[in-house]
Amino acid sequence: MTKSTKKTNTKTARERVLFDSGWKFHRHDIEKYPSIIPVTQWKVKNVGKDKPSDEKAAAADFPTKDWMTLKPGEDAFNKTPGYAWFKADLPDMPGPVRMIHFTSVSDAAAVYLNGIKLDYHEIWTDPFEVDLTPAWMEKGGNHLAVLVQNWFGIGYIDEANLEISVPVLTEKGPAAANYDDSGWADVRLPHDYVIDEKFDGAMKESSHGYLPKNIGWYRKTFDISQSDKGKAIWVDFDGAFRNTRVWINGHYLGKHWSGYTSFRFDVSKYLNYGGRNTIAARVDARGHEGWFYEGGGIYRHVWLNKAASVHAEPWGVFIVSKPLGKTASIDVTTTVINNTGRTLNAAVTHEVLDANNKRTAVFSGKAKINAKGDIKAKAKISKPFLWSVETPYLYKLLTTIKADGKVVDKFEDTFGIRSIKYDADKGFLLNGKQVFLKGTCNHQDHAGIGAAITDSIFKYRIEKLKEMGSNAYRCAHNPPAPELLYECDRQGMLVIDENRRLGDSSGVLSQAKSMVKRDRNHPSIIMWSICNEEKEQGTELGKKRGLVLKKLINKLDPTRPITAAMNGGWGKGITEVIDLQGFNYNIVQYDPFRKKFPKMPVFGSETGSTVSTRGEYITDEKKGYVSAYDVNQTEWSQTAEEALRPIMKRPYMFGTFIWTGFDYRGEPTPYGWPCISSHFGILDTCGFPKDNFYYYLSRWSDKDVLHLFPHWNWPGKEGQEIEVWCHSNYDQLELFVNNKPKGLKEMPENGHLMWKVKYEPGELKVKAYKKGLFVTEKTIATAGAPASIRLTPSKIKMKADGHDTVQVNVQILDDKNRLVPIADNQVKFSINGPASISGVGNGDPSSHEPDRADQRKAFNGLCAVFVRADYKKGTVVLKAVSEDLKGCEVKLSII
Ligand code: GAL
Repeated sequence: MTKSTKKTNTKTARERVLFDSGWKFHRHDIEKYPSIIPVTQWKVKNVGKDKPSDEKAAAADFPTKDWMTLKPGEDAFNKTPGYAWFKADLPDMPGPVRMIHFTSVSDAAAVYLNGIKLDYHEIWTDPFEVDLTPAWMEKGGNHLAVLVQNWFGIGYIDEANLEISVPVLTEKGPAAANYDDSGWADVRLPHDYVIDEKFDGAMKESSHGYLPKNIGWYRKTFDISQSDKGKAIWVDFDGAFRNTRVWINGHYLGKHWSGYTSFRFDVSKYLNYGGRNTIAARVDARGHEGWFYEGGGIYRHVWLNKAASVHAEPWGVFIVSKPLGKTASIDVTTTVINNTGRTLNAAVTHEVLDANNKRTAVFSGKAKINAKGDIKAKAKISKPFLWSVETPYLYKLLTTIKADGKVVDKFEDTFGIRSIKYDADKGFLLNGKQVFLKGTCNHQDHAGIGAAITDSIFKYRIEKLKEMGSNAYRCAHNPPAPELLYECDRQGMLVIDENRRLGDSSGVLSQAKSMVKRDRNHPSIIMWSICNEEKEQGTELGKKRGLVLKKLINKLDPTRPITAAMNGGWGKGITEVIDLQGFNYNIVQYDPFRKKFPKMPVFGSETGSTVSTRGEYITDEKKGYVSAYDVNQTEWSQTAEEALRPIMKRPYMFGTFIWTGFDYRGEPTPYGWPCISSHFGILDTCGFPKDNFYYYLSRWSDKDVLHLFPHWNWPGKEGQEIEVWCHSNYDQLELFVNNKPKGLKEMPENGHLMWKVKYEPGELKVKAYKKGLFVTEKTIATAGAPASIRLTPSKIKMKADGHDTVQVNVQILDDKNRLVPIADNQVKFSINGPASISGVGNGDPSSHEPDRADQRKAFNGLCAVFVRADYKKGTVVLKAVSEDLKGCEVKLSII
């Protein structure tokens, strides 16, 4: 490197500040700024399996009278390989440059405008843009044609938008520096604007949750001091859904299309030092990356980072630790960025601090660094505390970087010391000990707040799963927010981190790369999943793509194996390249696979998909409720018992991941409207347990479990037979109705007990026996009319950080303080003090009440309200009232 005259700033300047407050938000007004116009329908002709011999059909005047009309995303191929023409007239749009942006074309597209071929693009996983300028007619009458080739499965064009291409500097409109955003809403991140929409039953696709998805604009002004000049300054977005474009002071920084990976923009070049700055982001939630509720907006944290011109690359520290009996080795690679323009001598020093902040090791390394380079350092520590599910012990690594002898960067990472191993017979070994993976799959969605899950709600969710005895979590089907992973590190939850899509395109590879680089220091992560149920999973193409992804991931992280969640094609395609075979459902395939591949560790990457509605015991299709007895599943799935038993019977299966831990918006299987959220959860969207929770608890935890259901409030059903169930791990149970014995039964292995009894109000009681001796009993009484409200906050102390959120659970009680299990009272909330209500929920999969509100109906006796702290300390009083009920209030301290 040659000497440079560049002004540099080499002070120890590392700062990483949360950039969540003070944002302005506005829904994009297409009428006012017609810069994006979607193609809403296509004229389509399937021309069969062979490529058409000419391009005549691309011409504007080619007749399309007898062609089909399809909407974005609709299959034109009936799942058969071949070719189809898609045509649409484009409206006029002010220039100078118009683009057509495709979210996904399955699988290849030749794009024509006015008969002129402009582009060819392959692979449905990557969005792409085509510049229309070479064929655009200013006088109007522009005609778009796309020859789509379908390779297998369904074939379609998803969202296609006519857009103005973004100029380098925007001087007008919401991206411009001086735009007046005073009329916009004040929001704090994380923020999901899709939950503010009204449910719309007319929306065709049920799987996204019947909430309209729009474009949203965000703006934030902030000061940068003169002394920051010369520093490296960048903004990290942990995640925004999706197609995010970012501007700083009107200068276009670029776009990031995936809604699931974290991204950053260097802003230093365009900052106004010693003055005000504006960052603007446009987020387009209209497309989709999955088939479930995905939210919309900047729904994860944003961070402003400042560092000296010599600093560690973001995600540039890789810590590999290995327990070695009485010691442990620690190998750290630090990637150093050097923006000074000259070669320098860099040195890193690492200090390891134990959980009491006691220094247990200091070690260092050095290297000559040009623009960028790695520095390796290693150490051994004695008597290491190992990270495990039961004792998730975390160490801190403090890193200091010196450039030419001067300290330039300092920061902290966390890590855990543990070993992982997989064996086809012994299963998964953590620190040499076999651990059966009792897992759940989960999307990122929670009642009241949608995809914008705050750190404390992640904590709450992981606590609920741990309470059930679960020890593993599959991030379905995308990399999660970093805070979820920190929570799993802290609570001892093993994680499968999953790449959104299979592919070998640059887009897919960059997603996988960012997942691994960002997440590889988390001790909780025990494998990488390259995809879920991709249509090419069992093919040569699947193998080729899997191999590219595997090689990339192995290079970035040689310490963890790779899996794929497959629902077909096992033994071929991706199987040939992965280390651990994941089975989604398809229990009958376990044994034949094992016979053929006895050396391959196998697990249930997706199991269950049992459907049930909390507190409902009669299936009612009209209302959209499925009974909570463990009797309902879909055609491809099983009840909880049917899914767990076959796995427990096969010692070679090293784990199971139930679909799902929590209900989520969208996929209202087995119904559609009026249902808007899924029934798959073991817990509902609020985290209230359904009865199956206790089935898993009785199998997965070492607690004694005695769970009796249903409730005993059945007015009008006197004398009618009712099924009474018990999930338990006692040996024998005896049921009583109003003290009359109804039979003593033996608990079957991995099963439940059931009695049919005639309903009479009063008391339902079960007595539990172990080895013939009475141990305990449980009673459910017929509750009286609703009389009062009880509020139970998940914690009473909150941080004054503008972010900390507490879920306050609401119960409707009778005059003896017993839950009224059929109560549906409307509860109104009010709040006083430095906090606000950020949402409400009740777990009812058919509720169309808004979540961003200060009132909610109870659903089967329960609902929840979410309180989010402000930045001020003080006492918060939350009050709940309901007509004819005694109200309740709780005090929360903001400290
Ligand atoms: C699986 C799929 C999941 C979910 C589930 C519902 O096949 O991987 O995302 O759709 O089915 O049962």
